[in-house]
Amino acid sequence: MPTLTHCRDDFPILKRSVNDGTPLAFLDNAASTQRPRSVINAISECYEKYYANVHRGIHTLSEESTERYENSRKSVATFIGAKHDHEVIYTAGATAAINTVARSWGGQNLSSSDTVLLTIAEHHANIVPWQQLAAEIGFKIEYLPLQDDFQIETQTVREALERHQPKLFAFTAASNVLGTSFPVADWTKLAHQQGSTVLVDAAQAAPHQPLKVQTWDADFVVFSGHKVCGPTGIGVLHGKEDLLEQMPPFLGGGGMINRVSTEGFTTASLPDKFEAGTPPIAEAIALQAAVEYLSEIGLAEIDEHEKKLAKRAEDGLRQIEGVTVIGPQTGNKTGIVSFVLSHAHAHDVAHSLSGRGIAVRAGHHCTMPLHHALGLTATTRASFYLYNTLDEAELLIQSVADIQQKFAPQGRRRRHRN
Ligand SMILES: Cc1ncc(COP(=O)(O)O)c(C=O)c1O
Repeated sequence: MPTLTHCRDDFPILKRSVNDGTPLAFLDNAASTQRPRSVINAISECYEKYYANVHRGIHTLSEESTERYENSRKSVATFIGAKHDHEVIYTAGATAAINTVARSWGGQNLSSSDTVLLTIAEHHANIVPWQQLAAEIGFKIEYLPLQDDFQIETQTVREALERHQPKLFAFTAASNVLGTSFPVADWTKLAHQQGSTVLVDAAQAAPHQPLKVQTWDADFVVFSGHKVCGPTGIGVLHGKEDLLEQMPPFLGGGGMINRVSTEGFTTASLPDKFEAGTPPIAEAIALQAAVEYLSEIGLAEIDEHEKKLAKRAEDGLRQIEGVTVIGPQTGNKTGIVSFVLSHAHAHDVAHSLSGRGIAVRAGHHCTMPLHHALGLTATTRASFYLYNTLDEAELLIQSVADIQQKFAPQGRRRRHRN
């Protein structure tokens, strides 16, 4: 049974060094996490022992693959607290899941007089698909702004919902830049009171907190496998059964049909209706290994651990003159700390940190509207996960202090307030 205390040993990649011998401090987990041995083994076992295409073959390997593929769905349904296994649709990732909802539900339900409400903190994955559809259909997109303290109060959400009466409210459960978690169940309830359909982008929430989709009650919830220690190329769209039943398929092809004639086709039932073509078979099987690994360690423990590290990093960074943390000081947060330095561009900071073995991300993190609203072009983002250590948080603080000093103009150096 894996434990939080010993989990670093489960991740082979964390043993490697960079820059000819510097230990790796991997703080780029919000972009993509690393994989434990059990996930790596699940993929290689699949290809070595029983791989075949699923659902179609009447032979032993196909039956075994199909059984394991569908077992994965059951396991993921349990992981997110879904009512039915068939409400779990496998997609290529969170982006593909949102595009599926946009094209299928949006294409069927949105018209030119409608409004879609988003927050300004959305990832491009939850902006661009709506902009693409709006360009075709002509509906309006409104954005909930951030307050000065980087928060969005529930009262602001309530007022915006009353004012705009959106057909859809699509928001992120946790920001990939600010590190804030939003109260999903409360916002969903308010949206439903106004008759809005709700999509929750849980890409940054799934790695850290049980999704509890039934408690949230959102109509659609999406997340990606590679951010929960699973493989790339797979993500999850959870939809309420009745909505998914009413929606047309997004992609057409093999696997999603019941019958096809020269005149037309009838669709398969859920979940196949939304899984056209050969699905990500080994990826699904490895995703099961990933969610079981996280569940065995315990999401609550993981959350507590990374919050502790992020808090230490944030407190330390706030002490350095010329360093500004981009995110609220209080509230429900994840393991993400984004920051800017007064005299160094985010790319230079990330490059200098990389020289010390620290992997962070720099840029707009696919949130250009958020950065624009904050008057920034780029931030540096450190993101902690279960296998990170307090020493790595300390190394980050010290390294940023050194970089700030190196880039600060002469005469303003050596003012680290530690
Ligand atoms: C909040 C959020 N939503 C959506 C995505 C898109 O995920 P993917 O690239 O796995 O589709 C990301 C990825 O960084 C994200 O952070």
